[in-house]
Amino acid sequence: ATVSDKPALTVHLCAPRGFCAGVDRAIQIVELALEKYGSPVYVRHEIVHNKFVVDSLKDKGAIFVEELEEIPSDDQDRPVIFSAHGVPKSVPEDARARNMFFLDATCPLVSKVHKEAQIHERRDREILLIGHTGHPEVIGTMGQLAEGTVTLIETEDDARNFIPKTDRQLAFITQTTLSVDDTAGIVEVLRQRFPDIVAPHKEDICYATTNRQEAVKAVAPLVEAMIVVGAPNSSNSQRLREVAERSGCRVSSLIQRASEINWSDFDKITTLGLTAGASAPETLVEEIIEAFRQRFDVTVELVRTANETISFNLPRELREYPSPTP
Ligand code: F3S
Repeated sequence: ATVSDKPALTVHLCAPRGFCAGVDRAIQIVELALEKYGSPVYVRHEIVHNKFVVDSLKDKGAIFVEELEEIPSDDQDRPVIFSAHGVPKSVPEDARARNMFFLDATCPLVSKVHKEAQIHERRDREILLIGHTGHPEVIGTMGQLAEGTVTLIETEDDARNFIPKTDRQLAFITQTTLSVDDTAGIVEVLRQRFPDIVAPHKEDICYATTNRQEAVKAVAPLVEAMIVVGAPNSSNSQRLREVAERSGCRVSSLIQRASEINWSDFDKITTLGLTAGASAPETLVEEIIEAFRQRFDVTVELVRTANETISFNLPRELREYPSPTP
């Protein structure tokens, strides 16, 4: 073997990383719908927050829109798919009113939070949602109930300043892709102020979010820099980048493709952590490793903190349908 003249770099690869069961299912729904119904198939909002995924589905005949109104009247009979993040109740209502055929790719773990909101409402509770304003999941969850029903809490300060609108019992739900630590802080403030506040039975932050953050926490102390593969509008990816930063990584960068690597950040490093958000495909992780191999003599070490076996059923319409050949 020849001795490499490139500097040595150990890449500590986080596991789990990348696709979660909800993202996997959402992408499958689009692919199967294209196979079963032909193109075009419309998708309301980016099916998952990843440009690479969206572009490859566009190539197969999916058309992405932000609102149902954008679907041309000639195409109103084409299937429309709702993204993994979930939609306000008004969206399926609107689709029904227009006689559209829709498939719902909302992650079942987001639907679970929607149901919690409805149960709290039925039990006459005042509802708080911990989440990030403007994120489609938050818009979808708040939109399960009448406008103004759910109060959004983004920070510990919001929790400290929150004034109940009613004298009803309080309950909180959360976005599925939050920082586990930040959310614990916010919940702590709420519990101190309102000891009777009703919490989710089982954490609303999903298993994939939790596991990916745990893996980053395990890897961060071993490395000088961390790369998170993911999109800037991906909430769970942003949280991974923050977790790495707070765990002491000097460089913690969120990038979508190898072309975005700012090489001067990684100039003299000998250790690098690598992970991917729940909507980032593994091929992009491989692309990053390959880019580092061009400049470094890379050794990859896997750091696994959890095993994931969960998968979700497809919508009934697509269940009998053969899965796409790989
Ligand atoms: Fe669902 Fe969590 Fe993925 S809510 S879409 S499993 S990040």
